[in-house]
Amino acid sequence: MDKRFEILLDVIGQAGSRLLEVSRIELRDKVSSKGGDDANMVTVYDVEIQNFLIEKIKQIIPSAVFFAEEQDNDKDVTKAEYCFVIDPIDGTTNFVHGYLHSCISVAMLCFGKPVFGAVYNPYMDEMFYAVRGEGAYLGNRRISVSDRPLSRSIVAVGTSPYNKQTMGSDTFRLAYEIYRGCSDVRRFGTAALSLCYVAAGRTDGFFELALSPWDFAASALIISEAGGIVTDIQGEEIGFSAVTSVVAAAPCVHKFIVETARGVLKQ
Ligand code: IPD
Ligand code: CA
Repeated sequence: MDKRFEILLDVIGQAGSRLLEVSRIELRDKVSSKGGDDANMVTVYDVEIQNFLIEKIKQIIPSAVFFAEEQDNDKDVTKAEYCFVIDPIDGTTNFVHGYLHSCISVAMLCFGKPVFGAVYNPYMDEMFYAVRGEGAYLGNRRISVSDRPLSRSIVAVGTSPYNKQTMGSDTFRLAYEIYRGCSDVRRFGTAALSLCYVAAGRTDGFFELALSPWDFAASALIISEAGGIVTDIQGEEIGFSAVTSVVAAAPCVHKFIVETARGVLKQ
């Protein structure tokens, strides 16, 4: 692996150690909501970890530009030679609740295509990562998506909580139809880790009707390198500069989710 990616993995691991240090008590006074939306929270740690990552990445790749959750991203920088798409804490609500299931997600895009992605869950000390063309890994172990039949598959659902009014009903109608066809459904509260669980074969599919690029950029590469398919809910290729729906799954489950959505979402 490129030496710079090895250093990046180390930096992302250090950011994860900071998450572990923070206690739930400390958090109470340090939470604010974004854009007047109660479900959309930011803590001082989101900002602190993002600043830490940006500073360290600039030392590794001085020409890097950043597309990150906790900053204003007015211009589309994602087509730059080195664009880092960062979610300093994916699963902020879990973090604030002391639910202990959150992660740090960092992707590097080269001219708009992901070439490196890492998602670190410090609570389990699990580093999922991929380099384009070199496979997907969990620590030292190569991972791949499952080949379970649909009837034994688990599908994770993302509830688009920041779009509850416009997407809540479609999300749950679709989740219900998917639930009828597979073995069971799950809701983890972090899109990035939900996608990595598909990549590792722990679950078989995932969908969410609205996600921002920092929620899925790193794990989209990890899934593709693990043999899975990532598209929007219509089955079309996704981009990395705007909010989009995301379906990520092992091939047979992907087909099932997209076909089910076609029936449910037109009603
Ligand atoms: C959120 C999480 C959540 C998903 C939301 C995301 P955040 O990211 O990934 O699981 O349902 O759509 O925005 O706010 O915790 O970084
Ligand atoms: Ca996020």
